Amino acid sequence: MKRLKEELIKISAMGRASNCSVNYYAQLDPKMGVTRPEGSSANKALRDFTVERMQAAGLLVRVDCVGNIIGRKDGSSKHDKAIMIGSHLDSVMNGGHLDGALGVFAGIEVLRRMGDEGFHHQRPIEVVAFTGEEGSAFVVGAMLGSAVLSGKMSPDEALSIRNMGGQTLDEVLTDMGYKGDCTYCVDHVDAFLELHIEQGPILDNEDIPVGIVEHITGITWLKSIITGFGNHAGTTPMHLRQDALVAAAAAIRFLNRRAHEMAKSVNSSVVGTTGHLNVYPNNINVIPGMVELGFDIRAASLESMQMLTTEAVTYLNGLGHENGIDVQVASPDVQGPVKLSEDIIGTIEASAVQAGVKFRRMASGAVHDAQNMASVARTGMIFVPSVKGVSHSPMEWTEVPWEELETDKSGPLSQTEDISGDFWPP
Ligand code: GLV
Ligand code: MN
Ligand code: MN
Repeated sequence: MKRLKEELIKISAMGRASNCSVNYYAQLDPKMGVTRPEGSSANKALRDFTVERMQAAGLLVRVDCVGNIIGRKDGSSKHDKAIMIGSHLDSVMNGGHLDGALGVFAGIEVLRRMGDEGFHHQRPIEVVAFTGEEGSAFVVGAMLGSAVLSGKMSPDEALSIRNMGGQTLDEVLTDMGYKGDCTYCVDHVDAFLELHIEQGPILDNEDIPVGIVEHITGITWLKSIITGFGNHAGTTPMHLRQDALVAAAAAIRFLNRRAHEMAKSVNSSVVGTTGHLNVYPNNINVIPGMVELGFDIRAASLESMQMLTTEAVTYLNGLGHENGIDVQVASPDVQGPVKLSEDIIGTIEASAVQAGVKFRRMASGAVHDAQNMASVARTGMIFVPSVKGVSHSPMEWTEVPWEELETDKSGPLSQTEDISGDFWPP
C-alpha cells in the first residue's frame, strides 16, 4: 500500500494548478484543481508514469491505436481469457486527481500484491488505462477509448474526432507518442473490474468503505446552437434585439425546472445539467449573437431520460419561433443505463464478507468505462467514498486507510517538475 500511496501523492501534482502534490484533505485548495485532458503535457506525464509503473510491476505494456494503455501479466494458462482491471487517466478541467487514475493504479497494486504474496493466477490479468473517458477535450463523446475497445465505435471514427482546438484525436495521440499499433481483441476479455471513487455522498454519509455497483446511469448529451444577431448593446432598443443568450437562458431554466419536477414525480434519479455554454462574441458591450449549449441529462431509467430529452428538444426547437432566433439541435448522444454482472457483484460481496469490510450495493450516477465494457464482458465496479460527495472539483478527495503507515501531516507541500501550466484549451 505504501507504493500506492506514494504513487497517488505523486500523481496528485500532475496537472494541478498549484503544481504541488496533495498529501491530505486540508491541503486541497478550491481554486487549484487538476486539468489533464488528452493532449495536455500533464496527461502525457501521467501516461508516461503509468507505463513506467506497469513495467516496473513486470507487466508487458502495449498501446492500441486510440491510445489505450494495456499492461498484461500472463497466468499459468496463457490461453485463458483475461481478467481486465482499470479505468482512465484523463480528467475534467479543474477536477480531482483520483477520478479514474485511482482505478488504474489500484489495478497495478493488485498485481504487485499478488506477486508479493506468491499468489499464482491462472488467467492473464491486464491493467488498462482508457483514453478520453471524460469527454473534456474531445467533447463529442465521453468514454472514447472503451467505446473503441469494446467495438461500439470504430477506431477511424474516434481518431477523426476533433478537440475544441481543431486537432484530431489521431494528431493529439501522435504528438504525445501514444498512437500505438497494438490491435486489441476484446474477445479475449472474460471479466472487467473498475475501482472508482463514488463521486457522490452515500458512502461518506453512511460511513461505509465499499460500494458495489449494481447499475450505471444512462446519459444523454444534447448539443444545440442558438443563433440570434450580435449588435451594439447600447444602441439597439430592447424590442429590436435577437439575443441568443436570453433564449439560451430560458432553455437552461426549463431543463433545470423539468429535471427537478421529474425527479420528484417520475424517477428520483433524473438529473439535468447545462454544463457547457459558449457565448459569442462574449463581449460585455455586444448582444450575444450565438450561443452553443450542452445539456447533460441522466437517469437510471431509459424512459425517464428519454422523456426529459424529448421535452428539452421540443423546448429548444420552440425557441426558434421567437423573434429572429434560429435553433439547431444536434441528434442526442445517448448511452442507456447498464446493469452490471450479478456474478461479479456476488463475488465482490463474498470477498467483502470474507475480509470483514462493511459494504452496500448502490447505483452509479456517474458514467464509467465499465458501461462500455459491460457489453462485452462480465463487468463489476467497486466504489470507495468521496469526502462530502464531491467530485469533478478541486475538492475531490478519498480518505485511504493508510493507518499502518506514517502520515506526515505537518510537512510542506512538495514541489514537482512543472507540468501544470499548459491547460488545454488555454
Ligand atoms: C464522468 O465522469 C461522468 O459521469 O460525466
Ligand atoms: Mn469523471
Ligand atoms: Mn471517472
